[in-house]
Amino acid sequence: VRQLSKQRRPPGFPPGPSPIPVIGNIMSLATEPHVFLKKQSEIHGKIFSIDLGGIMTVVLNGYDCIRECLYHQGEVFTDRPSLPLFQKMTKMGGLLNCKYSKAWVDHRKLACNSFRYFSSSQRMFEKKISEECMFFVDAIDEHKGKPFNPKHLVTNAVSNITNLIIFGQRFTYDDRNFQHMIELFSENVELAVSGWALLYNAFPWIEYVPFGKHQKLFHNAAEVYDFLQQAIKTFSHGRVPHIPRHYVDVYLDEMELKTKDPRSCYSHENLIYSVGELIIAGTETTTNTLRWAMLYMALYPNIQERVHQEIDRVITNGRAPTLQDKHKMPYVEAVLHEVLRFCNIVPLGIFRATSQDAKVNGYTIPKGTMVITNLYSVHFDEKYWNDPSVFSPQRFLDSNGNFVRREAFLPFSLGRRQCLGEQLARMEMFLFFTTLLQRFHLQFPPGTVPTVTPKLGMTLQPKPYSICAVRRQQKL
Ligand code: HEM
Repeated sequence: VRQLSKQRRPPGFPPGPSPIPVIGNIMSLATEPHVFLKKQSEIHGKIFSIDLGGIMTVVLNGYDCIRECLYHQGEVFTDRPSLPLFQKMTKMGGLLNCKYSKAWVDHRKLACNSFRYFSSSQRMFEKKISEECMFFVDAIDEHKGKPFNPKHLVTNAVSNITNLIIFGQRFTYDDRNFQHMIELFSENVELAVSGWALLYNAFPWIEYVPFGKHQKLFHNAAEVYDFLQQAIKTFSHGRVPHIPRHYVDVYLDEMELKTKDPRSCYSHENLIYSVGELIIAGTETTTNTLRWAMLYMALYPNIQERVHQEIDRVITNGRAPTLQDKHKMPYVEAVLHEVLRFCNIVPLGIFRATSQDAKVNGYTIPKGTMVITNLYSVHFDEKYWNDPSVFSPQRFLDSNGNFVRREAFLPFSLGRRQCLGEQLARMEMFLFFTTLLQRFHLQFPPGTVPTVTPKLGMTLQPKPYSICAVRRQQKL
């Protein structure tokens, strides 16, 4: 594996802003890096480079450029960068951070197959999601229309869907150990792109500096690892080989099958990393989407009103929503799509790297270069969107009110590394959102309007806010 480029811009490399000696452009990323990088693309071009403390990084902006690299040159842009932080966290193994290799192919295939297998009996699985939706709305009902912060409940409900596939079981909403693990993990998603983490990647010797957020990151990661190790042990108890009950069983079956294969990359350690990555990738993203959706419904009562009308028209007699209803509910679809576009849940995607030397727009990018995909710049690309900074579900509807797909819409990214949980996330978002709005009217406590400025991290989430979920009478 060639090391990340530590030299100054090599010949033919995309241009970019001048770096400050030693730390390069790290400080420029302190506030809203996705917005800063899009602005830089207006000066230096859709493809440009920045210096992250000596790590020369290429930034891709706008739909055309991202489609060219991730789709048309998919094979070339599929690696992950060997950053010291990732090396320390997952040794470049597991699934999400895994190098582009046989190990990644095998781990991705195994995860996709198990996700398909355990949710294949769609009806059964849908029933389980619906059950979770009911636990969720019942728990919200306990607040009796009084203000509460929905973060905790949404996180628990959403993570339970992934838990069903991974461990075959849900955790109750008062399971403190599970919640604590998710909180630590989620804090790490935030810290992973903090100034300290970027500094650690550039200067790994700061590991020995006893203070700083990187120490918190390591500490959290160690605690999460212990929890997952224990959970895997607990839930694999009583396993009968070749009769898997969940993802962990499938992994252990495969690991045993390949014990004599010297090329096998299945291991207890990689299982722990993969389970952790699947849980956090599935939870953090879907939870943030739903939390933004709730916030925007309360912020725009007229949009919420149209959602209520559609729910009442399609889901009659107070029955629970089903996936069959989805294609009859273009407005709900449009709202969820606009939340994904406007709120940019994973604004800079997950860092990529070139797996071979690349040529794009006349530039030369050596193998092993770190690549940032600015997904925010796709969703705010003026070539494809009118008034991108206006929240308007209408842009996903035609003049007859039918849902229309839009090309420059990549919340799940593109290419070989694109999100493997997209189908699951879409199912969850639809069922949780419609079940919630079928039962409640969402409004802010009188006299309050929360900020829509996001909390920064690898994912964008709303700052903590209070909301009132007032029971509504469904119009029959
Ligand atoms: C990767 C977004 C839900 C599992 C990704 C990537 C994005 C993304 C942008 C980066 C792909 C790249 O490297 O270019 C989202 C959003 C979600 C969501 C917006 C919800 C609204 C889920 C769910 C799961 C999941 C429910 C699974 C339970 C993963 C995994 C990867 C990934 C494992 C890494 C894939 C790889 O490296 O091969 N996701 N995701 N995601 N996502 Fe999701």
